[in-house]
Amino acid sequence: MPTAPLPHFPAGFRWGVSTSAYQIEGAVGADGRGPSIWDTFAHSPGRIADGSSGDVACDHYHRHREDVALLAGLGVTAYRFSVAWPRIQPGGTGPANPRGLDFYDRLVDDLLAHDIDPVATLYHWDLPQPLEDAGGWLARDTAARFAAYADLVAARLGDRVKLWITLNEPFVQMSLGYGTGAHAPGRTLLFDAFPVAHHQLLGHGLAVAALRARSGSPVAIANNYSPVRALGGTDADRSAAAAYEALHNRLFTDPLLGRGYPEGTVGDPSVVRDEDLALIAAPIDVLGVNYYNPTGVRAPQEGSPLPFELAPLDGYPRTAFDWPVAPDGLRELLGWLHRTYGDALPPVEITESGCAYDDVPDVDGRVPDPERVAYLDGHLRAVRAALDDGVDVRGYFVWSLLDNWEWAEGFTKRFGLVHVDYATQARTPKSSYAWLRDAIAAARRKPAR
Ligand code: FCB
Repeated sequence: MPTAPLPHFPAGFRWGVSTSAYQIEGAVGADGRGPSIWDTFAHSPGRIADGSSGDVACDHYHRHREDVALLAGLGVTAYRFSVAWPRIQPGGTGPANPRGLDFYDRLVDDLLAHDIDPVATLYHWDLPQPLEDAGGWLARDTAARFAAYADLVAARLGDRVKLWITLNEPFVQMSLGYGTGAHAPGRTLLFDAFPVAHHQLLGHGLAVAALRARSGSPVAIANNYSPVRALGGTDADRSAAAAYEALHNRLFTDPLLGRGYPEGTVGDPSVVRDEDLALIAAPIDVLGVNYYNPTGVRAPQEGSPLPFELAPLDGYPRTAFDWPVAPDGLRELLGWLHRTYGDALPPVEITESGCAYDDVPDVDGRVPDPERVAYLDGHLRAVRAALDDGVDVRGYFVWSLLDNWEWAEGFTKRFGLVHVDYATQARTPKSSYAWLRDAIAAARRKPAR
C-alpha cells in the first residue's frame, strides 16, 4: 500500500463519493415508484451477466441512515447521489409523487446534519418506462419532460442541494443504451442514435433554466471522457482516433461550451432546430468529468459499420473489468480539456473515478483491497499534477461508496470502498476506506498555501 503522504490540495477542494439510484436503492415498488427502462431491461432474459436486477440492490432506500453514517466516518465533504425520476413521476409526466420526494428530502437533511454537501444528479439512466414507450430519448418531447421533472425536484430540494448535475454520461446512454444495446433500453441503432445525443443535450439546457429558476446552487453535467490513443501509426489509424475522439469526448462538450457539434457527428440534421444550440450552451458552473481509462483506437477492418476499431492498450495493470489502470490518462485528459476549450472551460470536478476488483473478506472479516488504494493514490496524484499544469480542478468523487449493481454486469463487479454482502446486506469498509479517510483528514488539516 502507498505510504507516502499525498501532496497538498487547495483549501475547499471537494472530497466526495458517488452512487446512483438504481444501482443501490432497491425498493423498486416502494412508495409509488414506477418502472424505469432498467427494470424492464434487467428483467428481460439474457441482458444481465448474472441474471440479477436492481430490485433489492444494496437496499439503500431502507438503509440510507447507515450509509450516511459510513459517509460521515469517511470524512467526505460531499456526496453525489442520483434522484430516481420514476420515484418522482412514476409515469414520467404530471405532478410530483410526494412520497418519492420525501425520501430525498430525508437523505439531504441527514447529509447536511453531518456537514456533507448533497450533490444531486437528476438523471443517471433510469428513464420512466412510459417515456421510453413514447420514443424515449429519440423523441424530442423527452427533453421537455426532463425539464419539467427537474423543476419538481428543484422546487423541493433547491434550497439545500449544493450542486446540481443534470445528466450522467449522456455518451454512455446514447452509445450503449441506443447504439449497441448493451444497456437499457437495449436499442441497436448505431449512428442512427444521434437524436439521443441531441435530445439529452436539449433536456440538459432546458433543465439548467428550470434549476436556475428554483435554486441558487451551481449547475453541472457529468460527462464520461476517455483520452484516445491511436494505435498503429498510419494516417488511417489517426483519422480513426480523431473520429472516435469526436464521438466520445467532443460530441457532448463542444455544443455545451458553445461550439456546436463537431464535424461529422450530426446524423439527421433535421433533429437540430435553430434555437437549440443556444439553449444547450446555457452557461454551466462546473464540468463534471467521469474518468475510468484511456481508449486505444485503430483503423477499422474492411466492411466495418464503424469508422474506428477499439483495441486494448498494452502496458497497464488491469481491473476486474479489464480496464487499464492509467492515472496518467487523467492528467492527459484534464490537460486536453484545458487546451481544447481554453477560457470556455468552467471549473472541473472529477465526478467519478474508481475501479472494480474481486474483493473478498479474509478470515478475520476484513476486506483488503490494496489495488484500489494504489488506484486512488495514483489518480489523486494525477489530479494534483493537473492542478500544477494550470487546470482548475475543484473536487474528486470516488466511484463508489458501496459495492453495487453494476448495470449489465449485475453484481459481478465490486467498485465500493465498502464491501456489501448481498445476502445479508452487511456493509464492511475495505482497507481503501480507511486509507481514503486518513488521506482526506490529512489533506483537510493542512493549511492553505
Ligand atoms: C460509469 C457509470 C456508473 C458506474 C461506473 C462504473 O460509467 O456512470 O454508474 O457504472 O461507470
